[in-house]
Amino acid sequence: MSESILKVENLSKYFGGLAAVSNCSLKIKKGSITGIIGPNGSGKTTLFNLIAGNLKSSQGSVIFDNENITDMPSYELFSKGLLRTFQIAHEFSNLSVLENLMMVPPDQSGENLLNALLKPGRVKQEEEVNRSKAYEVIEFLNLNHLSNERAGNLSGGQKKLLELGRTMMVDAKLVLLDEVGAGVNRSLLKDLGAAIIKLNKEKNYTFCMIEHDMDFISRMCDPVIVMAEGSVLFEGKSEEVKKNDKVIESYLGNSKISNGN
Ligand SMILES: Nc1ncnc2c1ncn2[C@@H]1O[C@H](COP(=O)(O)OP(=O)(O)OP(=O)(O)O)[C@@H](O)[C@H]1O
Ligand SMILES: [Mg+2]
Repeated sequence: MSESILKVENLSKYFGGLAAVSNCSLKIKKGSITGIIGPNGSGKTTLFNLIAGNLKSSQGSVIFDNENITDMPSYELFSKGLLRTFQIAHEFSNLSVLENLMMVPPDQSGENLLNALLKPGRVKQEEEVNRSKAYEVIEFLNLNHLSNERAGNLSGGQKKLLELGRTMMVDAKLVLLDEVGAGVNRSLLKDLGAAIIKLNKEKNYTFCMIEHDMDFISRMCDPVIVMAEGSVLFEGKSEEVKKNDKVIESYLGNSKISNGN
């Protein structure tokens, strides 16, 4: 039996008159690396924003690990193990790679001034645990040479690795990756792909990844969900997706529109 970790049921999001996500239903299988593709503007990022608590839905529901999480704020989902990365990396550019990772775990005692004054030992101990966890993550992602580099100085691809690293600082169950491979050079894309597969195999992370690069998707994902106009057009293995008439048509239709202006 393949169990779902996430169920999206008849989910919609309207921006004024525009239905960015429209009566969308899908399931993500626990333990899978599921791909999401679709033409520009087909609602992929909006879907992630709705699932991960970055936007409120207009209607429908989201079930995560058998719990209704519809419109739950992102910090609550974070503590339940549902994390996402952003299409544009969200690093703290003035902090080092190490510091960016160390600040991920929520509810750190040191953030409370009273704790810092009254329980300095506990704060220090927590910080040490965080620091060694951050070094583990840095090691895992082959970023050792960059641990003290300002995150703002990283290349686009290295920032994407750091985004992935942030999801490793807590016990994630489901990670939503929004174009984590976009703008990443070939060799770094291999590292990124390998890190994702390793997290999936060794730490049982389930991934759902939006990508435009069909080669990357084919290598990484099963199944692949195709979105068009805010809902699911097709779902299947990548080979099936590539030869599906509805899918081909939706991409062609889209490129005609963008060629026209
Ligand atoms: N905050 C917003 N306000 C108004 N319209 C929005 C907003 N966010 C997205 N949209 C619109 O919703 C539609 C879906 O956008 P979305 O970003 O989800 O698409 P996408 O599939 O992620 O596209 P891309 O592949 O280009 O990243 C688009 O028409 C977009 O212009
Ligand atoms: Mg997007």
